[in-house]
Amino acid sequence: MKLEISLFGTEFQNPVLLAAGTCGFGMELSEVLDLETLGGFVTKSVTVEPRAGNPAPRVTEFQGGMLNSIGLANPGLEATRRDKLPWIRDNVKRARVLLSIAGHRVEEFFQLVEGFDGEEGFLGFEVNLSCPNDTRRAGSTFALDPDAVARIIEGCRARTQRPLVAKLAPNDPDVGGTARVAESAGADALTLVNTLPGILLGPADGIPELGAGTGGMSGPALRPSGLLAVKTARAATSLPLIGVGGVLGARDAVSYARAGAVLVALGTASFADPRAATRTVEGLVRWGRGRGVAHWTDLVTPRAGTAVHDTGGES
Ligand SMILES: Cc1cc2nc3c(=O)[nH]c(=O)nc-3n(C[C@H](O)[C@H](O)[C@H](O)COP(=O)(O)O)c2cc1C
Repeated sequence: MKLEISLFGTEFQNPVLLAAGTCGFGMELSEVLDLETLGGFVTKSVTVEPRAGNPAPRVTEFQGGMLNSIGLANPGLEATRRDKLPWIRDNVKRARVLLSIAGHRVEEFFQLVEGFDGEEGFLGFEVNLSCPNDTRRAGSTFALDPDAVARIIEGCRARTQRPLVAKLAPNDPDVGGTARVAESAGADALTLVNTLPGILLGPADGIPELGAGTGGMSGPALRPSGLLAVKTARAATSLPLIGVGGVLGARDAVSYARAGAVLVALGTASFADPRAATRTVEGLVRWGRGRGVAHWTDLVTPRAGTAVHDTGGES
């Protein structure tokens, strides 16, 4: 099975990415994983100012996955420009890189796009509209506010020609509507989904397991919500979709293709096995070969035609 995908005016050598916030800026994983075997990766979300993040413990596990409240710990705009992007520019050639940006206020997204747009080392922006761990926004995310989505994406669009990907939330009751808002505002693609808000409480004392109290749930338990969000967005827009949430290997990646995603990203799976993404690429080749599938894109469900079928019946 051929895995190459033409997207954003370039080629991805395969559809498997590492998800935002789970591989730092690439260099952190380069000792244990050959990044050049991947379709690409999405960086940790960067904010204008450096952030120390939320109080420890920031990560806890449960049977279905994990709960994190990292709180967008990141080096900020200046240090990312100075220390992180040059390393990516010099060391990552075949994998495609999306730079994730996040803000507490709408204008911060614009500052980030302006601050990064002239730099080398990345293909496009993934706009994190959906982080549930931003304590300043009390767990509410921009992705649940269509006006904010429109303003942020329109403002970013006006400031860059690069690919612009909007990352949406799993707990959006109208994710199809939000997908259309992002498309009208100028997004080139959508990533679905971010983590789902949750809490884990000690049974003996009722004390939250995470220092920040609540966190974002990821891993296998998120997969059904991720698939539903991708399928819903697929029906609502024609934009390319990046499917994220609970992908452990090739089978799950194919499920996301069936839902309509042309790229997939893994996060939590890499914590258990840093080679999970590389294994997924290898597994896809075997999966396709075993079933006589010529190309990955043959598995990707397109948006259903909008033609009205005459059923001959009365309604
Ligand atoms: C520890 C951790 C940190 C994350 N940080 C970010 C982040 O900075 N920006 C972002 O958009 N998503 C972040 N995410 C969400 C992931 O990119 C992904 O959407 C989510 O984990 C679901 O995928 P998974 O089930 O494969 O982990 C983070 C997830 C985890 C587990």
